[in-house]
Amino acid sequence: MGIDVVDLGGFRAQLADVASAFVAGTFTPGERDAAASRASGDPARHLAVRFAAKEAFLKALSGPRFGAPPRQRRLDLREIEVISDAWGRPALRLHGAARALLDEGGAWQAHVSLSHDGPFAVACVVLEAA
Ligand SMILES: CC(C)(COP(=O)(O)OP(=O)(O)OC[C@H]1O[C@@H](n2cnc3c(N)ncnc32)[C@H](O)[C@@H]1OP(=O)(O)O)[C@@H](O)C(=O)NCCC(=O)NCCS
Repeated sequence: MGIDVVDLGGFRAQLADVASAFVAGTFTPGERDAAASRASGDPARHLAVRFAAKEAFLKALSGPRFGAPPRQRRLDLREIEVISDAWGRPALRLHGAARALLDEGGAWQAHVSLSHDGPFAVACVVLEAA
């Protein structure tokens, strides 16, 4: 399992840097659309919690390697995609190297839960052998 918390203030400052390629390099078009269309009218909050989900997934993937070097130093975070159903329930859709790393040694399913309130966004990911 993996967990991550994002401070919304710091995250907003990162988004405000117009020279930064952070958003385009981190989020899929679907994630950006979802964040922009939420009723809160605060896309940064929804991007922040999706960022937390990506980091939580990396922790969950890394946990079982305790004591061993990282299998891969960097992943394209867009390969760890948060999708939502019509009722707002989140799920993870994995692509490319993220999918391949997860499926090393067998098939795995990734579960995710997201929450945001006040200045914080938090995500938890659990990996389960399929
Ligand atoms: C599920 C529910 C309790 C979430 O409460 P909440 O306080 O609004 O949630 P938080 O603010 O902590 O977290 C928001 C995130 O929860 C996730 N979420 C929303 N609905 C969800 C649901 N039904 N199940 C799981 N996660 C959900 C979303 O990812 C959301 O973030 P996003 O909008 O950026 O994608 C609320 O949406 C609810 O009561 N829904 C009504 C019906 C329902 O789904 N009941 C569950 C039994 S079937």
